Amino acid sequence: MSNDMINRRNIQWFPGHMMKTLRLMEANIKNVDAVLQLLDARIPMSSLNPEIQRITEQKPRLYVMNKADLADPTLTNAWVKYFRASGAGCVAISAKQKGSAAQVRTAIEKELEDLIARRAIKGMGGARIRVMVVGIPNVGKSTFINNFAGQVRAKAADRPGVTRGKQWVTVGNYDLLDMPGVLWKKFDSLETATNLAFIGSIKDDILDIEELAMGLLSQMQKIYPEKLAECYKLSEEQLQLGPWELLEAIGRKRGMLISGGEVNTERAAIMLVDEFRASKWSRITLEKPYQMEQAQEQEVQE
Ligand code: G4P
Repeated sequence: MSNDMINRRNIQWFPGHMMKTLRLMEANIKNVDAVLQLLDARIPMSSLNPEIQRITEQKPRLYVMNKADLADPTLTNAWVKYFRASGAGCVAISAKQKGSAAQVRTAIEKELEDLIARRAIKGMGGARIRVMVVGIPNVGKSTFINNFAGQVRAKAADRPGVTRGKQWVTVGNYDLLDMPGVLWKKFDSLETATNLAFIGSIKDDILDIEELAMGLLSQMQKIYPEKLAECYKLSEEQLQLGPWELLEAIGRKRGMLISGGEVNTERAAIMLVDEFRASKWSRITLEKPYQMEQAQEQEVQE
């Protein structure tokens, strides 16, 4: 799939409400003390929405790498160091687990140390801390907010599932401004688009599932060949196959055959993508901090 093709499809899948969300962010950024951007720990770079970066750059920022339970712990640590070195706060969590909200609370307070101290001097120590919570779809924003709110008993109504309009959620001395999930209009690269599709941020019905599975297999062959081999009991020779042949080989191993002994590659592809998303291939991170540095260097040169 070419970049162009993805961008053309993108016109259909960048729905109006996402455009509205960006405008909403622009209109509300002045009303918050800080911005908390949730990232997917498996793809920290691809889940870092450049549109959100642009809108929020004047505010203290905290990156929360969510779904750390699914990501490679060594690389998660490397990413946390990377973001901290860039001057932002960063913490890795699993929003589904207890204790993650407390971790984030501490990180926000550290990030806003100066502001909190200034307010205390002015006798405004009890002033509310207003935080805009942003992120791409499916990053775990609702899970995180429910967890954060649950600990101190939320006053706002419980909102499971998909968020639409903005909403203030009051939790203790925090006001969280919950924004709907947002992707961006144009992809920088095919890699970003496919990474987002791998983790399920882009709806599967827009992309070809076999292409997606082959993309995943190629990535795995490059960065985690041993994990792929272990999970699907692949031989050295099979590991060297092209992605289509490998998809067929895995489908065959799982007995996904249709009449005539051919492999049902669509079924095999669905299984592969599902198993990746369910973390059956063990904990995987598809991006490394040096790739981000390279991308930024490139941006400077252009
Ligand atoms: P969103 O508001 O950003 O769109 O995301 P949401 O909280 O709805 O979470 C999307 C999916 O990610 C949910 O799974 C949720 O359970 C899962 N999730 C959120 N945080 C974490 C985490 O830290 N680790 C893991 N492993 N999963 C996480 P789902 O299958 O869509 O729903 P459900 O069946 O779990 O309810």
